[in-house]
Amino acid sequence: MKRLAKAEVAIIGGTGLDATLNDAEQVRVGTPYGLPPPITIGHIDGSPTAFLPRHGINHMLPPHRVNYRANIFALNQIGVKRIVATNAVGSMRPHLKPGDLVVPHDLVDFTKLRHLTFYDDAPVTHVDVSHLYCPTIRALLIGQAKAQGVEITDQAVLACTEGPRYETPAEIEMLRRLGCDIVGMTGIPEAVLARELEICYATICFVSNMATGMQKRLTTKEVSKVAKVKLPVIQHLLKETIRHLPNRRRCYCASALEGAKFEAR
Ligand code: HPA
Repeated sequence: MKRLAKAEVAIIGGTGLDATLNDAEQVRVGTPYGLPPPITIGHIDGSPTAFLPRHGINHMLPPHRVNYRANIFALNQIGVKRIVATNAVGSMRPHLKPGDLVVPHDLVDFTKLRHLTFYDDAPVTHVDVSHLYCPTIRALLIGQAKAQGVEITDQAVLACTEGPRYETPAEIEMLRRLGCDIVGMTGIPEAVLARELEICYATICFVSNMATGMQKRLTTKEVSKVAKVKLPVIQHLLKETIRHLPNRRRCYCASALEGAKFEAR
């Protein structure tokens, strides 16, 4: 039997990003949670790197039907220790415009129906998300953008809604008043599941539209249009970030389960 290809770094995002990798092959990795989409494993500067298309082949899975547990479990199985994700988001702040890039520092979960954890059984496990996103990957994404003259917003709170419908104007007003800056449907539970398996995770978001109520109408067409336009910039940033990852992980993501399990006496 052929040995499963391995990679320490993975990109999760929309279609098109697999082209970031050289000499790629596709693998299928079964998990106790189901079968994730085919994972592409290739190289960036000779380092094995994986790509997982969150919405499946040909963008068939809506955000609330993505099998986040299968995706993160499968990446863990192939040896992934670091994930750099991308998400399309709407902006709830007038100064953040379509086409802008944002590296959020925190998140508020407004999802309703998703399976949120790998730890349904004893020992009861509560992971710490004081710093949900890996500080090392965040710093590299921000630093590499600045080094290349790409404008980037380095602090923002991402609200994750259930979807698949867009938000109502009243919901957007509520999210803004609560202190959220950008809104998307795919940030949760992906980031938390990665933390639960001690995988570093950060995301680069691109603003595809102003949130509901801030522009006349909202269509999926414009989301896809901005994604296409920003693809080369995001690809380049991902490559540079992955190239500069230090060999050793010194962040707390790597030991997230220390002190997380409830010990009955
Ligand atoms: N709301 C939720 N998800 C999104 C949006 C939005 O405005 N734009 C892109 N993904």
